[in-house]
Order: sequence, then C-alpha cells, then structure tokens
Amino acid sequence: MYKGESPQDLGEDAARVVSDGDFGGKAGETALLYGQDGPAPRLLLVGLGERDLFTLEKLRRAAATAARRARALKLLSAAFSLSALPDTRMREIARTVAEGARLGLYRFDRHKSAAEDHDLETFWLVADEGELDEAAEGAELGSRVAEGTVLARDLANEPSNVATPEYLAQRARAIAEKYGMELDVLDRAGIEEEGLTGLATVGRSASNEPYFIVLEHRGGGDSSPIVIIGKAVTFDSGGISIKPSAGMEDMKFDMSGGAAVLGAMEAAGALDLPLNVVAIVPATENLPGGDAFKPGDVLRMHSGKTVEIVTTDAEGRLILADALSYARRYEPSAVVDCATLTGACVVALGDHASGLMGNDEDLIAELQAAGESTGERAWPLPLLEEYTEQIKGDTADIKNSGGRKGGALTAGSFLKEFADYPWAHLDVAGTAYGKKGNAYTTKGATGVPARLLVEFLLGRTR
Ligand code: BES
Ligand code: MN
Ligand code: ZN
Repeated sequence: MYKGESPQDLGEDAARVVSDGDFGGKAGETALLYGQDGPAPRLLLVGLGERDLFTLEKLRRAAATAARRARALKLLSAAFSLSALPDTRMREIARTVAEGARLGLYRFDRHKSAAEDHDLETFWLVADEGELDEAAEGAELGSRVAEGTVLARDLANEPSNVATPEYLAQRARAIAEKYGMELDVLDRAGIEEEGLTGLATVGRSASNEPYFIVLEHRGGGDSSPIVIIGKAVTFDSGGISIKPSAGMEDMKFDMSGGAAVLGAMEAAGALDLPLNVVAIVPATENLPGGDAFKPGDVLRMHSGKTVEIVTTDAEGRLILADALSYARRYEPSAVVDCATLTGACVVALGDHASGLMGNDEDLIAELQAAGESTGERAWPLPLLEEYTEQIKGDTADIKNSGGRKGGALTAGSFLKEFADYPWAHLDVAGTAYGKKGNAYTTKGATGVPARLLVEFLLGRTR
C-alpha cells in the first residue's frame, strides 16, 4: 500500500483501517486484518511510502517484512500480491519481492542447540493474468540471486574455527561440481611456487593452511573474462601488529569479500550466465607466531614490485595485490576486487555504502549503478596521485600503509599499483556485516556485495 491511499478491492475492513487512520501506508508500516472472505483468512497490509517515491529497495523491505510476519504467525504459506505495483517493470518487481522475502527469512542458527524450528515453506507471488510469465521469470531470478547471497552470508557468519581457508576451498569445490566449473586450488607449496609472496607471507605463521582458490565459470565462449577477486582472511588478529582485543571477534568476518565472490559464483552457475567469469579467492589467517612476518620486512611480490611492511595488520592488500597480478594472465575485460579492507572506509561512509575506487570511470559507473538497483550501495572515492605519493617506500618501491590519513584511499592506491587492466575495488568493511540488521538483513553478515556483483555480471550479458 502507498501512503495516504485507500485500498481498492480489499474489502470493508481494509478500507476501514485506512479511513479510521490506523494504517497510513508509511514505508515499513503494517496492519494485520482477520476475518477476510476467500481463501486467505488473514490480510497483511504493508506500507510502501509515497507512490511517487517508490523504489525497489522499499519493495524489497516490504516483501521481507511480510515474509517475516507470516513466519512469526507460524504460517506455512503466504501470498504477496503484486497487482498494485508498477506493472511496467513486472520482471524487476517480482525479482525484488522474491529476493526480499528470501533474504528476510534468512537466519544463521546452525550452532544453536535450541533453534527456532518453524519455517514459512511457501511464499507465493500473485500477479495479474497478463503478467504471469514476466513475474515467474523475475521470481526465479530473484530466488537464485538470493540463494547466492545466502551462501555468502553463511560462509561469512561461520566462525573462523569452521570457515578456515580449507573450508572455503571445499565450498568452492562444491560449487564447481554442481555447475561444472573449473577449479584450481593452490596449497602452500603451490602458492610459493607461483610466487604469490603476499599470500605466502601472511599465511606463513598460521597452522590452518592458506589456499589460493580459482574458480572459473565458462559460459562466454572465447570472450575475455571478467575477474572477481575477494579477500578471505578467515581471521585477522593483525599479526605481530596485533589488534586490541575488544571487538576482535568480528575479524572472523574478514573473509566477507571472498564469501561474496563465492556467493556470486553460486548465482552465476544457477543462472548459467553467458559470460566467462573467473573468481579468485586468496584465503588465509593473519596470526602472530614465531615464524610470522614482521614490520620492516620487505617482500618481492608476484608482480615483481617490492613492498615494505609498515604494519602486519595491512595484510588484505598484500594478498589482493598478488591476486590482481595473477589475474593478468586472463587478459580480463574487467577486474573487480572486494574486501573488508580498511577501518578508514567505515569512518568515511559508515555502514550505508561501500567505498568504490578504480582506474576506469565506466567500470566505476557500472558498479555504482549495480549498487543502486540492488540496494547494496557503493560510493566513488578518489584515487588521487597524492595518495600514491603517500605510500612510496623508504627501502622498497611501496609500503603497505600510508598512515591514518585517507586510509581507504591509500589502500586503494596500493592495489592500483598491481592492476593494469580496467579495474575497480569495493571496500566493504562497513557494509559486509553489521551489529543490527534491517528488514532483510540480520545482525552479522549481510552478504554484501554478492548481489551487486551478480547485477554487474547480469549487466554485462545485456
Ligand atoms: N580487516 C581490517 C580492516 C577492517 C577494520 C575491517 C575494521 C572491518 C572493520 C584490515 O586488515 C586492517 O586491519 N586494516 C587496517 C589498515 C591499517 C593498519 C593501515 C585498518 O584499517 O586499521
Ligand atoms: Mn588487518
Ligand atoms: Zn584484514
């Protein structure tokens, strides 16, 4: 229901609850009515706000709100009417509702002894006769995208004693087998042999072995691939430059980029995208130890550039740099990396948008648009030459930290040194997980930017 409008064809009670002023149609507002005629004994009105200010994000939230309420009422099925929604975009509308409902129902309770056992089994979408095909297509698309996002959330929510680098490699294998994708997993020896110094170095002191995971979806003939890269530090203690203990438990989420990339590949497989997509997930723990790398160390990276370690807590850019230079062999049409990379990005944008940087304006615009339409917003930040200046090394080519000022940008500029193709970087440190959740996210992992990535890929098929 839109704000300030009166319901049509919903019966007297619905007209009454509006005319009496008990339900105004504000976004997120609900009213539950009993005693309806017909097959559905209950009717839930969900507000969408002003008709003129309609957005897919409001609809996504409304669908999630409806699905959650139906589950809370211990129902087994519920139906959501699409008939009052803008029917010019029925495919997008149905997709959004399916996505919102599935994501709203998400919960991560597999480690709870007394988990809530009731589930809403079926969420029907009801469309008008002439729009059924489009609605069905949209619903199918929405559920596949949502399932990929669910995978990303599950992986990221798992604690680091479950979601080890090896576990991520196994999950990648499961995706590869399900959809007939190519999988290449380098273990410690393979990582060293390939010269992936950043990953080998960060992973050196961890007893859970590091892995370099490469998963390829080949749906695009001999066209040049899109590469998506996700940081997967399964636990970031900071290493020798150890983090303060308060809040350190959240560093199990430091593999959210990798989780989102695997989630996007799950969706790419389910949708059988007519594209070549290569996913690269460098996976490791960052822990202190007798064998750990230390501030002051100098590394010769996979690309040949040398890096001076200022802090072992700036580990993400080290493993991503190697993934970026490894990606050169694919002669990619575009490379997008995503990572919980800097606390500075959280300071800059909060949890409302991911930081978006890169060396190609068109690619940046494409990703920003994908963020807008999925509700996984990303906002462009500048990679000025001055930031590159700020990370010039004293004893090596560059250093892995430029200090506190402009921390998200110096990190982005560091990565830029290793990308010589159209490239963009998403810093999801503020958006990949959260303390509270909204209508369709829960506390913990959000799955960001899995849906953004899928939307970007879908855009490349059009
Ligand atoms: N994983 C962290 C970034 C992070 C911080 C993610 C807070 C989510 C919330 C990253 O590895 C890191 O430690 N970055 C440092 C870099 C600094 C030492 C140059 C940071 O942001 O403090
Ligand atoms: Mn760190
Ligand atoms: Zn980190």
